[in-house]
Amino acid sequence: MSWRDFWNGEHAIYVSPRHKLLHYRQVAADVIRHIPSPDAVVLDHGCGEALSADRVAAQCGKLYLCEAAPSVREKLAANFSHIRKIAVVSPEEVAALEDASLDLVVANSLIQYLSRTELSDLLALWREKLKPGGRLVIADVIPPDVSPLTDASQLLAFAWRGGFLTAALAGLVRTALSDYRKLRAELGLATYTEGEITLLIGGAGYLAVERQPNFGHNPHRMTFAARRPPETPDLDGRDGIVPG
Ligand SMILES: C[S@@+](CC[C@H](N)C(=O)[O-])C[C@H]1O[C@@H](n2cnc3c(N)ncnc32)[C@H](O)[C@@H]1O
Repeated sequence: MSWRDFWNGEHAIYVSPRHKLLHYRQVAADVIRHIPSPDAVVLDHGCGEALSADRVAAQCGKLYLCEAAPSVREKLAANFSHIRKIAVVSPEEVAALEDASLDLVVANSLIQYLSRTELSDLLALWREKLKPGGRLVIADVIPPDVSPLTDASQLLAFAWRGGFLTAALAGLVRTALSDYRKLRAELGLATYTEGEITLLIGGAGYLAVERQPNFGHNPHRMTFAARRPPETPDLDGRDGIVPG
């Protein structure tokens, strides 16, 4: 089994419906903090079920929800097809979007499931699709020194605050026995130091890479924001893009 198969199948990452609801509400609030204007065109890449995408859509002009897992895309379409500002898309459909058409790209809790090469390819794709000066936010990046035990304790703290502690305790036991734990041990999760991910994003041609408060409930993971370079006149007088 690969991570892709895992996300496409039934899993118990969320310990209860309340956990899932509060998680996506928090992620939506975090995405909204980065929306630059009410008419912004936003891509949430690797959005999962995005249960609060309606809240995000209410704060921007257009919201693309990109999911690799067909089963998740079906749920997204069922929940949001009535909202005209929301378009559910596959990764292939993102590649087919018009270049320089997005104001904001967010990817929360995605890059740990990607290889280094897949991440480099996506950084290049997002840069192409962002408008000059557009913003990229990569969130929930796992540093190498954060253990599954820290993740578990942060989940329990979130559950305590959110009123689903009993479900979280039961969920942690289920996770310990689940495909997720086996896959995490077998395939691992990609981890990055702050220096490493900053260099990767900068090396892919983005400017002003900076650390931001993390999305979601786990402050031990990291969020980074960066910009596609703005348009500036070329030396020969035509409009161009500053090389990254
Ligand atoms: C941990 S979930 C995160 C979901 C959501 N962003 C959140 O904040 O809860 C990762 C999601 O990324 C999706 N995914 C994995 N690789 C992807 C790719 N290359 N393109 C788009 N989605 C991908 C998975 O199917 C899964 O739904």
